[in-house]
Formats: sequence, C-alpha cells, structure tokens
Amino acid sequence: PILVLDFGSQYTQLIARKLRESGVYTEVVPYREKIEDIKARKPQGIILSGGPASVYAEDAYHPDEGIWDLGLPILGICYGMQLITQHFGGSVIAADHHEYGKAKLHIEKEDSPIFKDVAQDSIVWMSHGDRAERLPEGFEVVGTSENSPYAAIANEDAHIYAFQFHPEVHHTVEGTKLLKNFAKHICGCESTWNMGSFAKEKIAQIREQVGDKKVLCGVSGGVDSSVVAAMLHEALPKEQLICVFVDQGLLRKDEAEQVQAMFKLLDIPLITIDAKKEFMEVLAGVTDPETKRKAIGEKFIEVFDAEAKKHTDVSFLAQGTLYTDVIESVSVKGPSKTIKSHHNVGGLPDWMTFELVEPLREIFKDEVRKLGLELGLPKDMIGRHPFPGPGLAIRIMGDVNEEALRLLRESDAIMQEELKATGYYDKVWQAFTVLLNVQSVGVMGDNRTYDNTVCIRMVESVDGMTATFAHVPHDVLEGMSRRIINEIDGINRVVYDISSKPPATIEWE
Ligand code: XMP
Repeated sequence: PILVLDFGSQYTQLIARKLRESGVYTEVVPYREKIEDIKARKPQGIILSGGPASVYAEDAYHPDEGIWDLGLPILGICYGMQLITQHFGGSVIAADHHEYGKAKLHIEKEDSPIFKDVAQDSIVWMSHGDRAERLPEGFEVVGTSENSPYAAIANEDAHIYAFQFHPEVHHTVEGTKLLKNFAKHICGCESTWNMGSFAKEKIAQIREQVGDKKVLCGVSGGVDSSVVAAMLHEALPKEQLICVFVDQGLLRKDEAEQVQAMFKLLDIPLITIDAKKEFMEVLAGVTDPETKRKAIGEKFIEVFDAEAKKHTDVSFLAQGTLYTDVIESVSVKGPSKTIKSHHNVGGLPDWMTFELVEPLREIFKDEVRKLGLELGLPKDMIGRHPFPGPGLAIRIMGDVNEEALRLLRESDAIMQEELKATGYYDKVWQAFTVLLNVQSVGVMGDNRTYDNTVCIRMVESVDGMTATFAHVPHDVLEGMSRRIINEIDGINRVVYDISSKPPATIEWE
C-alpha cells in the first residue's frame, strides 16, 4: 500500500480516499508511528501530509527518522514538503503573506513521471503560511506558481517529490492524477484495488491473525458490526465465531428483533444477552454526557467478559471500529484532544486479555457500505443509518429512565416511519430524535399542558466527520411533528435542529 503519515491536516483523509478511488490501496497512520510498525505495513511509498504546525517551531511534529533511510519514494504535501526541505538541508521560512486559495500551477519539467498526462497549466489549491526558501542539494524545481517559485520540487534520483499545494483537495483540478502518478509511476503500485479485493485481503488477514482460536464478535445491529460479523463468518469455521448481541435496553423500537432476524437470514449463530436491568442500574442518576458514555462502555465490556468466560479459549474480540472513530479518539496531539470518548475505541482494560480484530479500522462509512454489498448483506440493512454504541442514552438530555426511553423510542419510531413514507430516509445520512430536558406550556383542547420537548435531528454527511442539517421540506417536518405530538402522551412540542458539524456535533452528547 501507500502509507500516509498524518501531521494533522484537515485534508489528510482525502489523500487516502482519492488514492483508493483510483484503485490504489492506502492507509493513514499518525505521524509518530514507529519505524518498525511502518515497515510491518510493507508500504511501497510514503506520503507526508499537510499540518497546522511550522517545521521550525519547537514543538513541531517530526516523523520517525527511520523513514528517510527506507529508500522508498516519498511525496511531501505542504507541511510534508517543508519537512523534506528541512531534513535534506534546505531552509523554510514564514511567507510574507499566507497563500490561501486557488493558484495556477505551471509545470516546468514536463517529462517528470509525476506529471504524466497532467495539463501544463492547471488550477491548484494552496493553503500555507510557511514556504521553502532555499532548496536542499539534489532537488530541482519542477513546478511553479505566481506566488510560489517552489510550488513543486523533486529529487528524481531519490524518488522524492514535494508539493506546496494540496493535490487531495477537490479544487486542485489535476489532483487525483498527480496522486495516482505518484503511486503508479513512482511507487510502482497497481491500481487493481477495490472493495472486492479489500474484502478478500481482510478475510485472509483475519484467518492468519486468528488461527484456530476463537473470536468473540460484538454485534450491535448496525452496518459496521454486521459487516464485521459477515467477514468473520466468511473467514472462520462456525465453531470459532461467537457473535454476541447485548441488549442494553438502549435500542430503538423493535430493533432487537430485527437484529435477530437478520442474523438468522445470514445463517450466523447469535447469542443475545438481556442486560437491560444492569444498564439501567449504572445509568440511574447519571446526567453528565462523558460519565454516561464511560458507564455504558464499562458495563458493556463487563457483560462481554462475563459471556466470554463461558466459552473456553476465546482470544480475540472483533469490533466494527471505523477510521472516523479512530481519528476522533486519537487525534494527532494524542488523547488529550479527544472530542468524545467513543466507547468502541481506546483500548481495553488491563484485566481483559483479548486481542482486537478490527477489519474496518482504515475505511470510512460509505466504504463499509460498499463492502457490505460485496459480502452479500441485504440492501435495506446496508442502507441503515448509523447508530451510536451508547444508544438512546446519549439522546436523552439528563437522567435516563424508563419514561424518558419510552418518549424517545416512540418519537423516533414515528419519525423514522414518516421519513421512509416520504422517501427521505435514503436522502439523509442520519436522522433521529433527541429528548430535551425541557418542558413547555401548551394547549390541548381546553386544557393547559406542561410537557416534554422532542428535537428532530437530521443531517447530510459523507463520513460523519462534517455534516450539515438536512434541508427536508417543511411539510415532511410538519407530518412528523403532528404525529409525534398527537400520538405520544407526554410530548407537546417538537423542534428541528439547524446546526452543522462543526461547530456542533451530530449527536447531542
Ligand atoms: P458526532 O456526534 O461525534 O457523531 O458528530 C458522529 C457519528 O458517530 C456516531 N457516534 C458513535 N458511534 N459509538 C459509535 O459507534 C459512539 O460512542 C458514538 N458516538 C457518536 C454518531 O451517531 C454519528 O453518526
């Protein structure tokens, strides 16, 4: 694969996506990945991403020095270019003015393999405050722009290339071609990768990792864990796979039954554990969002461990952790920057002796869906909206109790019904209701009411990293609101969340 070292640019993931879309398998790892781990991934080339820091700052991010001695082709992008310049003895300074936005790249060295089939003049996207001032020995200018005499540089003998601009950004017209050229013509990667080959590769990896040991697979009924279960089912004999579904009482209406039906259809044995009471006990009186998430995460692991102990020699735990979960929990700066503690990431407590199997760790939600189709999962299951591990608990502002769960579950079910009936379910990325801890005054008939408020949250997104509130027609919202208020005793007001992520998040807790 191509390995991308992430120095914290908001665009890093786009590098991997663009390459994968071109058929080149690509993985992203934090910049501080140790050289042994880098080698273990057997990369054919390395890309150093952009990043917000300055290479000359005291706390600048630097990769493991070992990468320079691997003899592999390297492509530096923006901050990555400055790292290359600095490492090989050139100099980097703060630019007089920050260059931000579109610029015109002019190719100076047409016969360079990096520019194969690329137009001699094209628009690129710049976003930088520092620039190379003096090139290191052995490097030459291969592309210029009006404000950047060193827009693209190279040491072709050493197979090292660097761009001041961002090829991974949509506005860089020839960007996909540039990245593909690097992978194909400089690193010698073949563009034969697709979801089918990914599935085969991961299934083979699972077999190798697991051997003849047993795997415990946590199933939530969502797309991610179902895809993981299907992969394990494909990879291992039945007696090595133990799929466990914990009903923590925080599921949507009828969800437990639906999950069981689907596994029956897939012919995967499923153990359902009814832990509703235990979860309600640990959640009683807990209102702080992070405390809630932690309590649920811990209980979950406890219930799991108890189940695992009933089976002999279980060595592995499989999880549907996605790339999005990984970077949101382990940002470049380390755990201190955690946005929310996703309970399926972050390692296991010491007393648990499982090794993890996480075949989806490098890919995005939309890629998981494609993978699911490859594995033959039913279409309506693939199309299901994401649902968070901590379930309805993080959609109840304040105390989680039976009455709150009833209000949330019923309102969510009505909302989903309306969404499907109007054809909007497949048009929005995720939709749900939130029970606000807010009562307000209303009138019903001749009576004054003082009841609960439900918020409808619907978003459009590609991968959950960023999102905008969904622009659904008012009459669709009206239908939801009318039914929720009329049919559920205890709710007299419905509001619509019109915030985007960032600065808000998709969930409320
Ligand atoms: P936020 O609220 O962070 O949500 O914008 C982004 C996406 O992640 C889902 N989410 C979770 N998924 N465990 C999960 O498996 C979690 O703890 C968790 N928290 C949020 C959320 O539903 C949205 O799709």
